[in-house]
Amino acid sequence: MLSADQQDVPPARLLAVAIEAARTAGALLLDYSKTGFRIEHKNPIDLVTDADRAAERCIINLIGEHFPSHRILAEEQGASGHAPSRYQWIIDPLDGTTNFAHGFPFYGISIGVERDGLGLIGVVFDPTRNELFTGQSGAGASLNGTSIAVSKTDHLDRALLVTGFSYDIRETVNNNLDHFCRFALKAQGLRRSGSAALDLCYVAAGRLDGFWEVRLNPWDMAAGVVILKEAGGTVTNFAGGAHSIYGKELVASNGLIHPSMLEVLQQRAQRSS
Ligand code: IPD
Ligand code: CA
Ligand code: CA
Repeated sequence: MLSADQQDVPPARLLAVAIEAARTAGALLLDYSKTGFRIEHKNPIDLVTDADRAAERCIINLIGEHFPSHRILAEEQGASGHAPSRYQWIIDPLDGTTNFAHGFPFYGISIGVERDGLGLIGVVFDPTRNELFTGQSGAGASLNGTSIAVSKTDHLDRALLVTGFSYDIRETVNNNLDHFCRFALKAQGLRRSGSAALDLCYVAAGRLDGFWEVRLNPWDMAAGVVILKEAGGTVTNFAGGAHSIYGKELVASNGLIHPSMLEVLQQRAQRSS
């Protein structure tokens, strides 16, 4: 007989718990945005609020009630749980903290579930728009219950792209400004939204055509990558090879503009070699 750690859980159950956790945390974040929150600085531009921490606690408690043997990797508390478990929950309780802290309404809760190290479930919830993005490996992606698919834009000239910058932008030369400048001259438009999880979902829903970033963390990508792939999108590293949420860089697109995006991202490497 299999131990609780090894037992198979129906993906629909995982999805239902992830949705409940994301919606509960979303309501909490909206409350904090109305009643006020405390800001702490991890570095001069990297913030965390008590809303981030409260949302994370609420998500982890709910997962623990349903799946006490599962492992958890969450942005604020780090890794916890039983090493032998086949399942790992990867949580960003508030993706877009800088936006949240300024009252700029673009942020979300990101909850991904891996089984045996592979992305199985993705849930990203934008509480200010009440938009729930979900994906289940092999079963498609949806927005508020309606199926979504990537765009058909096939040329960078007509593509709306998005990117982001990591909090060590002042300390590293690998700060994405070079790529940003080159894409600015190639794409129809560029955006910096402030939420990588929502950026992935917007590419999945065809609202954006492509997204790249150089120094992301697993909790920024885990849920959004499942949703994007299930919506027919392509995700790779900058060399065009297999993407891992434990690697830092990510290129995500509708697939059609992927080769052109890789070409732009590889220009720096060619120039400096
Ligand atoms: C950040 C956002 C942002 C991205 C940063 C992330 P946080 O996450 O996703 O869009 O550019 O790299 O760190 O700190 O708001 O959870
Ligand atoms: Ca994040
Ligand atoms: Ca966060």
